[in-house]
Amino acid sequence: MTSWYAQQPESSMLTSLSVQRYNLSCVNLYKMKNNQIKLANRLVSVQESATLSLNAKVKQMAAGGRTVYNLTAGELATDTPGYIQSFVAERLHLNKYTPVAGLPELRVAVALHASEFYGLDWIRAENVVATTGVKAALSATFLALLNPGDEVIVPVPGWTTSYRPLIELAGGIVVEVPLTAEYDIDPTAIEAALTAKTKLVIVNSPHNPTGTVFSREALESLARLLNEKNITVIADDIYTKIIYQDNIPLVPTCGFNNLVVVNGFSKSQAITGWRIGYLIADKLVADAVASLLSHMTGNAPLPSQYAALAALQHDDQPPLSTISALRAQRQLVLDTLDASGIPHNSPGGAFYVFLDLRGLTNDSALWCSTLLNETGVALVPGEAFSASGFARLTFVAEKHLLTEALEHITTFAQKGLVP
Ligand SMILES: Cc1ncc(COP(=O)(O)O)c(C=O)c1O
Repeated sequence: MTSWYAQQPESSMLTSLSVQRYNLSCVNLYKMKNNQIKLANRLVSVQESATLSLNAKVKQMAAGGRTVYNLTAGELATDTPGYIQSFVAERLHLNKYTPVAGLPELRVAVALHASEFYGLDWIRAENVVATTGVKAALSATFLALLNPGDEVIVPVPGWTTSYRPLIELAGGIVVEVPLTAEYDIDPTAIEAALTAKTKLVIVNSPHNPTGTVFSREALESLARLLNEKNITVIADDIYTKIIYQDNIPLVPTCGFNNLVVVNGFSKSQAITGWRIGYLIADKLVADAVASLLSHMTGNAPLPSQYAALAALQHDDQPPLSTISALRAQRQLVLDTLDASGIPHNSPGGAFYVFLDLRGLTNDSALWCSTLLNETGVALVPGEAFSASGFARLTFVAEKHLLTEALEHITTFAQKGLVP
């Protein structure tokens, strides 16, 4: 299992020392240069990813010796699967650029996998671009499809912490549209938000931050609406391999005519740090994305492309042990929250539970930071997902740590209102 900082005092001390030294050297450098560099205006709307920066803060607290329960991560706690490690290790001598869109054999493997997984007959290697994680696929897609002022519908709660800056950097305008009370996609609300400028709708199921799987009925109704208006859907399918129910309605199977699929191996294979994902789209869009990436990143890292190939040889399935551990951890969280009376949803996929804190506080960001300071338990406040009054809990931690963290949450919630 991946190290849990709080359990590793030696490495924590080292990390803490090097962090201190690094901070000092940064300060000195800044003072020495006394530079006049001014950032571009486009940075005004861009803040560091709320989830990544919170995760970093929690790791730093742990490195400083504090016991923390990091329930903020957007990644599995397991190591890289052995079949990926050995496949990549045998190819570490290979070191050259690949075609920007990826190794030909990887594009073929993705196309074959996706054709079968989605039952779609139009997906060929030429429709696939390997990218440096799903973030790069999203970023290049927005740059390829958005003109200044074009609107993008983002259902909320949602992963707005990254969708928003990526859309705005591409000149687009984010239009947030609420999900239903059960966190299903809401075609009626989306229809009401459409304008002549609506270009894209993002559909992410299983969904971050709730883990909800959108219903087929709602997705098909959305497809009919968007097909009529010629609006494109971006299906962010990154959590489709981490599911707790059979036969989930996959977004690309719901009849969308104008479709871009983004997906990757970060979550299914626990290789978030390897930065490998892909996009599947009409050749016109795939070529445009590859052309943009030829200047932005070049090809996705070669060892990571091999990791993807190894994953696809295993049908991109997470190890069974991972899913069964997650299933047990999910149940533990749901049972404990039920017993403590904190309202929450019941996720069909991903590894998140969304807590409804509206009965406990008027300020979920303050509630989460007080929880962190008093108990060491870190959750991501709903504000990161355009959902004030809520918090996201990631249940990838080992069972005993999760149990302790849940005890702290329960006791803290019982203490009553934080303003
Ligand atoms: C909904 C969603 N899409 C995309 C990503 C980014 O994936 P990657 O790490 O492959 O860039 C994440 C990561 O948390 C996510 O939650």
